[in-house]
Amino acid sequence: MSNIIHVPLGARAYDVLVGPGLLVQSGTLIAPLLRRPRVAVVTDEAVGALHLDALRSGLAASGIELTSLALPPGEATKCWVQLERTTEWLLEAQIERGDVVIAFGGGVIGDLVGFAAAILRRGVRFVQIPTSLLAQVDSSVGGKTGINSSRGKNLIGAFHQPSLVLADTDMLATMKNRDFLAGYGEVVKYGLLGDAAFFDWLEGHAPSMAAGDVDARIYAVSRSVQMKADIVARDETEQGDRALLNLGHTFGHALEAATGYSGRLLHGEGVAIGCALAFELSARLGLCPQETPSRVRAHLTNMNMKVDLSDIEGDLPDANALLALMAQDKKVQEGKLHFVLARDIGEAFVTSDVPHDAVLSVLQDALASR
Ligand code: GLY
Repeated sequence: MSNIIHVPLGARAYDVLVGPGLLVQSGTLIAPLLRRPRVAVVTDEAVGALHLDALRSGLAASGIELTSLALPPGEATKCWVQLERTTEWLLEAQIERGDVVIAFGGGVIGDLVGFAAAILRRGVRFVQIPTSLLAQVDSSVGGKTGINSSRGKNLIGAFHQPSLVLADTDMLATMKNRDFLAGYGEVVKYGLLGDAAFFDWLEGHAPSMAAGDVDARIYAVSRSVQMKADIVARDETEQGDRALLNLGHTFGHALEAATGYSGRLLHGEGVAIGCALAFELSARLGLCPQETPSRVRAHLTNMNMKVDLSDIEGDLPDANALLALMAQDKKVQEGKLHFVLARDIGEAFVTSDVPHDAVLSVLQDALASR
């Protein structure tokens, strides 16, 4: 049985299905969207090797033919060269306005293929089949698509909502532990930003979920997607509330930039460390109880996740340089850093009213404990 989460966006509304066995049912689920029984699938080489045959059979069961392109795995693929390669391939494959493109992979594939779909023939529909935890709970839902610039992550892109998202929780079984835990950084973020009861549940159930508990995985993905759907429905293009989803990201993006977007720090790991730092900053500013940051850190530590700057291998720049990297983030408006801080677990809010000195001292202390 899968859970269905509706994203109510008027003419752009769609469903996110969460559960096991969705790849097997993909043909039945996707057929109603098609004008002819043919789809173009873009994946990465690693996901394709593991799961493309299963998707092909799922589609073939409903008589749908699949043509596919496999891109190199990794963040470096979110670039102009691979975007051009993908769009030219889609044109070569004679994908028309009425056709559907399928993004089959993690966040990199979802973002790049969504953007390719947004600009191909001025916009074709696409379906997200996210295969990583991070993509299932975050990047496949909400319509943010794009690629990176040499000046920063996700700086080139478009809002383009998918027509359907199939989050097959069976896909999570083949994930490497480190990637799964990095994706968990985005799951815990939802509890921290808006649902204290979900955070309580995660404290009790996340260890068994990470160990493979299927029901716990379905619940955690469904609850995360529901929270994201609610926020996106209120603020599709991030004029206000959607920025709550950036909890932990201002610190996290600076750390990702400082580590060269390399394997030293995965995005979700940066988000988890960033959440711990955001709660530390909130406590120092007297906004949340002094003991709350320790509770956040204790849970991340219990999950064997990166929590401190000392968990990042190699050198890091000093606090001023990290602050400068934060100032380059997209979340800067009129020169002010926009932070997501919290009054307690589950009570996050967006503010630009944060003294730079307070941020600097949090970073200095975090670096000193390395
Ligand atoms: N990943 C944050 C958002 O979709 O707004």
